[in-house]
Amino acid sequence: MRQRIVAGNWKMNTTLLEAKSLTAELMGMVGDEVRGDVKIIICPPYPYLHALQSQLGKSARIEIGAQNCNEHASGAYTGEVSAGMLKSMEVPYVIIGHSERRQYFFESGKQLAQKIDGALANGLKPIFCCGEPLEVREAGDHETLVKEQIEEGLFHLNAEAMKKIVIAYEPVWAIGTGKTATTAQAQEMHLVIRKHLVDKFGEETANMVPILYGGSVKPDNAKEIFSCADVDGGLVGGASLKSRDFVEIIKSA
Ligand code: 13P
Repeated sequence: MRQRIVAGNWKMNTTLLEAKSLTAELMGMVGDEVRGDVKIIICPPYPYLHALQSQLGKSARIEIGAQNCNEHASGAYTGEVSAGMLKSMEVPYVIIGHSERRQYFFESGKQLAQKIDGALANGLKPIFCCGEPLEVREAGDHETLVKEQIEEGLFHLNAEAMKKIVIAYEPVWAIGTGKTATTAQAQEMHLVIRKHLVDKFGEETANMVPILYGGSVKPDNAKEIFSCADVDGGLVGGASLKSRDFVEIIKSA
């Protein structure tokens, strides 16, 4: 049985005060309502990581992740944050290769592979994102592109390292648009990814890697999406900023 995971990507949202209240609400609701062993992760903006990590406490049911890290270990990269810094704050997870990073910050496949290596070298668990823009889907090239993204970012790893990766398939046309992939579209792409992992790393490894779906996951569609055989949870944007919605999504997993 693969680990089921629901992760919230807060993106560039919330003030510190809002972040603390959201965390407090989530801790209360999760403690009261969530049973089972679904892994819960929140990914707030960098400046709040330390405060929220302390707020969650060591034995927290909710874990924390960063939304990005730089590929270099240290040095003159003004404004950037390294994987080693995240490690020093005991942040266990880091999102790598989100489509917004690829699109607005021109992150390349090679750079993402370096970020993956930096994260793993520091004991962080990467949540590696892939997914196609609308025009690529319309041209029917989505399978090819997503396989390429996986190859560029992850195929240099050995099987042991691959077992530490979480993949998130996030079709770009479904992010923040209210358009969700149908269950058939989600399952189809998750299976494409899984099979690609089988070809490279073998069945045992491929069957251990959680593949999350992301793109307009909401309380009213989460159950259906999470029922797909190869969907192991979700990476949630907008709905993770509302405690009630996020907790309902967690309960659906
Ligand atoms: P939305 O859930 O807002 O569509 O965002 C998805 C996402 O990008 C999560 O990383």
